[in-house]
Amino acid sequence: MILLGIETSCDETSAALIEHDPKDDSITILANVVTSSLSFHAKTGGIIPEIAAREQLKYILPVISQALSEGIGFDMTANKKSPPIDAIAVTVGPGLIGSLLIGVETARTLSYLWKKPLIPVNHLLGHIYANWLIANSKSQYAAITFPALALVVSGGHTDLVLMNNHEDAKVIGGTRDDAAGEAFDKIGRLLGLPYPAGPIIAKLAKKGNPKSFPFPRPLIGSDDFDFSFSGLKTAVLREVKTIKQLASPSGGLNNETIANICASVQHAIVDVLVKKTIKAAKHYQVKSILLGGGVAANQKLREQLKLFAISHKLTAEIFVPQKFLCTDNAAMIAAAGCFKTTKKSWKEITPNPELYFSNPA
Ligand code: KG4
Ligand code: ZN
Repeated sequence: MILLGIETSCDETSAALIEHDPKDDSITILANVVTSSLSFHAKTGGIIPEIAAREQLKYILPVISQALSEGIGFDMTANKKSPPIDAIAVTVGPGLIGSLLIGVETARTLSYLWKKPLIPVNHLLGHIYANWLIANSKSQYAAITFPALALVVSGGHTDLVLMNNHEDAKVIGGTRDDAAGEAFDKIGRLLGLPYPAGPIIAKLAKKGNPKSFPFPRPLIGSDDFDFSFSGLKTAVLREVKTIKQLASPSGGLNNETIANICASVQHAIVDVLVKKTIKAAKHYQVKSILLGGGVAANQKLREQLKLFAISHKLTAEIFVPQKFLCTDNAAMIAAAGCFKTTKKSWKEITPNPELYFSNPA
C-alpha cells in the first residue's frame, strides 16, 4: 500500500510518500519533504499562528508536488490523472487551527479530484508511529511487539501512552502543566536563547556540568505516571535573577554559567522522563518502549533511557526513531495512517485543534 501523508499542524509544512509491507508491518519512506517557517519564529521567541498559517499556504502545494515526484516519479503539474497511491493520510489535530486547515483543506480537495480515500490522523499518534519507519536499510528493522509503552515528548505534549494494539492506545500519564519541550523553550528564553531552545540547550549542555545546579525534579517519586515541569522553569528564573543581582559587571550570566544551567536543566528533565517511563514499563510489563516527538531527538534522553533500562534489567525492547523523524514530518503521519482501518470521504473530515487520545480521529 502506498500512502501520501500531509502534516501542517504547526510551523512545518510536510508531505511524504511511504510504502507499507504487510508481511512485517515495516514502512519504507519513498519521500519525506519538510519545510518550516521556523526562521520567522526564531526572531520573535515563539510561534505566531497567523504567520505559520500564511507560510503553510505558500508551501503546501510545492511540497506535495515534490514528494510525488521524488517518491514515485509522478509529475503533478503536467499530469491530469490521479497518482498511483492508495489513500491520503492527513493530520487533523492537535495543533494550530490556521495551520491545520491548510493541510486538511488541501487533502480534501485532492481526495475529491483524485478519488482517493482520506485517513484522518492524530498528530500525537504520528509521533509514535515514527518508530515504524525505515529510513535506510530494511536489515536494521525490528518488529515492534505489543503491549507497547510510548513516551511522546513534543513542544505541546508529554504523554505516556499504553498501546495494547493498533486500535487501542490510552494515556496513562501526562504533564499537569508545561510539556517537556515547552520547558526547554521557556527556559531557553530566560537564558536569551532563540526559539526553539531545546536543541540549543542540548548543544550548550555538552560544555556544562549537569551537577552544578540542583534543580527540582517535580513528581519524580509520585505514585502516578504524571509529569510537571513549570516548577523547574520557576527555579531557573529564580537562579538567573540571583546570578544577575550578585554579578560583577563582567560576570553574571556568562557562557560558562549558561552552559552549566543548560546541562543541569537537561539532566533534571531527562531524569524525570526516564524514571517515570521505566516505572510505567515495569508496571504494565510492556514488550516495547517507543520514544517520539521533538524532544526524543535529545541525545541524553535517548542514551539515558537505554542505560536506565539495562541497569533495571528491563527486558522490553527500546525503539527510538532516527532524529530527523522525531520532529514534525509527514512520513510519521502516513505511517500512522497505515494502521487505521476506517477511511473517510472528503466530506467527512474537519480539523480539531484540541484532539487528544481520548477522542481519536
Ligand atoms: O514534535 P515537535 O517537532 O513539534 C511539536 O509537535 O510540538 O517538537 C518540538 C519541540 C520543541 O519544544 C523543541 O525545543 C524540542 O522539540 N526539541 C528538543 C530537541 N530537538 C527539538 N528538545 C531537546 N533536545 C533536542 N535535541
Ligand atoms: Zn509534533
